[in-house]
Amino acid sequence: MNPKFYITTPIYYPSGKWHLGTCYTTVVCDALARFKRMQGYDVFYLTGTDEHGQKIEKAALSQGVDVKEYVDKQVDSLKKIWDLLGISYDKFIRTTDDYHEKAVRKIFKILYDKGDIYKSEYEGWYCTPCESFWTKTQLVDGKCPDCGREVELTKESSYFFRLSKYQDRLIDLIENNPEFLQPKSRRKEMINNFLKVGLQDLAVSRTSFKWGVKVPFDEEHIIYVWIDALTNYITALGYMGDDDSLFKKFWPADVHMMGKEIIRFHSIIWPALLMALDIPLPKKVYGHGWLLFGNDKISKSKGNIIDPVILSNRYKVDSVRYYLLREIPFGQDGAFTNYAFLSRINADLCNSLGNLLSRSTAMVNQYFDGILPQPSIEEDIDKELKDMANALYEKVVDLNDNLLIPEALSEIWNLINRANKYIDETTPWILARDKQNYGRLGAVLYNLIECLRIAGTLLLPYLPQTGSRILQDIGIGEVKTFEGNTKFGLLKGGERIIKSQPLFPRINIDKELVEMDKIAEQELAKENGINGAQKEEPEKEVKPVIQYEDFAKLDLRVGEVTACEKIKRSQKLLKLTVKMGEEQRTIVSGIASSYACEDLVGKQVIVVANLAPIKFCGVESQGMILCGEDESGNIVIIKPESLLPSGSLVR
Ligand code: MSP
Repeated sequence: MNPKFYITTPIYYPSGKWHLGTCYTTVVCDALARFKRMQGYDVFYLTGTDEHGQKIEKAALSQGVDVKEYVDKQVDSLKKIWDLLGISYDKFIRTTDDYHEKAVRKIFKILYDKGDIYKSEYEGWYCTPCESFWTKTQLVDGKCPDCGREVELTKESSYFFRLSKYQDRLIDLIENNPEFLQPKSRRKEMINNFLKVGLQDLAVSRTSFKWGVKVPFDEEHIIYVWIDALTNYITALGYMGDDDSLFKKFWPADVHMMGKEIIRFHSIIWPALLMALDIPLPKKVYGHGWLLFGNDKISKSKGNIIDPVILSNRYKVDSVRYYLLREIPFGQDGAFTNYAFLSRINADLCNSLGNLLSRSTAMVNQYFDGILPQPSIEEDIDKELKDMANALYEKVVDLNDNLLIPEALSEIWNLINRANKYIDETTPWILARDKQNYGRLGAVLYNLIECLRIAGTLLLPYLPQTGSRILQDIGIGEVKTFEGNTKFGLLKGGERIIKSQPLFPRINIDKELVEMDKIAEQELAKENGINGAQKEEPEKEVKPVIQYEDFAKLDLRVGEVTACEKIKRSQKLLKLTVKMGEEQRTIVSGIASSYACEDLVGKQVIVVANLAPIKFCGVESQGMILCGEDESGNIVIIKPESLLPSGSLVR
């Protein structure tokens, strides 16, 4: 039986704000998964989306769309990016998948029945954008330690997970099992900043929003996002589902890969949950660094193109994969700049690799009509090249297994560069001047093509399109395994070698930088709707034709705003008191960016009076007021053309 390898990325928020940095985890995991598959492992590579929570609910609502519709659309577009980048995941889990929701409910109930989850009251400092509660000691200058924004002292009834109970076992796990949390620097951080400070029990339910999995025995409460999200790694394998054979086969995970900002959840909360469930722990949790644009993680304002789709379409997918895998020291932060990106393409992909392929295949075509000669006359100089090629696989495996991906690629390039030097040393074009040297010339070209075969094979996991192109051009079909394919001397001679077209076009860096600046500017302008550029037209939504009976279900009424206050925990929301005849309602409206309270009191509005109540930031909204948006994106309230009786029907 083949050994198994289970690797996961975090599940992604369906925010639509994906950039090159967001692709880092998936590209790295893809390379590792492909590598293991070629080593003969039975691989399960999991990725997916983290779709519940207040932020998503609000994002959908602010666009006036149904939340499920909103996340479906986002997931489609994320999957398209993964397809473009060649991400070979075996399963894509969505936390809105029915089987996941069912399993999460069961897990919550098991933990509750065991006494590891209990109900109490929570008082803490809440950061609305991050949906996180913090203790006072965790705040930085009184603000959210993750995003630096204002936090609010909040009290609510909540279910708690007994995280504190697992403190000693967690310290023991991290201190005495160095493989578990990597790189090393993250271990210190977790021990000193969290575990030794003392773990608090964790609030694991919310009542402030509806978009999530309900606590099975108390439906007012929504299971908070980390329990819902983290358990994806086991529910995807069928844990607590109808068929748990994948769970039996693949759990525990071999690697949970993620960016460093979420390592705390994966190295403290996740193992504690697994301990509570009596499930073996993952073998490794790895927190990689960030891809930085300028000084931060996602800035679009630095003139860099950071859209993976634009970069992949303009410079080829493998240029993007190569940059991410080669340029960022694994485990540390690394920068993206247009210049460094273009330089890598020119130096490594176009010059070193591209030239080796085009020169070697061109010479086989020019001197041997495209048929690979058999190796014959050997000289001492060949030995170093052959030894290097023969030793490459073991070196790359070792580096790859230790997650030294840039080093593994660098090792492959050592062979590529050595082969280029070998061309200069053996000067095949001079050998070709005399027919008597054709034996030696054939051997030189054979050696070069063998190096390309080995390099191309080892490149397959990292740069799948480039690896296959090389192998195709040198007359080899699909290569699916390393076994039997990484040692020198496999080709027999007689293979048809195609005269290769350039693998990557050579870039005029100065000119291209100017082009990239223009593209980045256009992108930024599109996003901001400035500099005369058109803000991207939102796709026109074609709604189905409805019958009058459907329209008649709406209870639209004229109301008058009698009071208004800002909701402290939100930048966007206002709490309105609206009078409709004798009746008075509280309505929460996301119009604070365009209206101040004093503009609203006394105004007539149109109210959707029979909309199901929903809570925003803990305030129940009993209806909605109708608004439109002007060309600059300002919200405009819809009101009667002249005053109408309060509470009267709108038809
Ligand atoms: N939904 C949570 C994860 C829950 S897992 C149980 C989440 N999602 S995310 O969409 O914000 O992030 C997904 C991955 O993208 C994370 O690994 C994150 O670190 C990574 N990256 C996002 N921006 C990044 C960079 N600029 N650089 C490298 N990776 C970064 O967190």
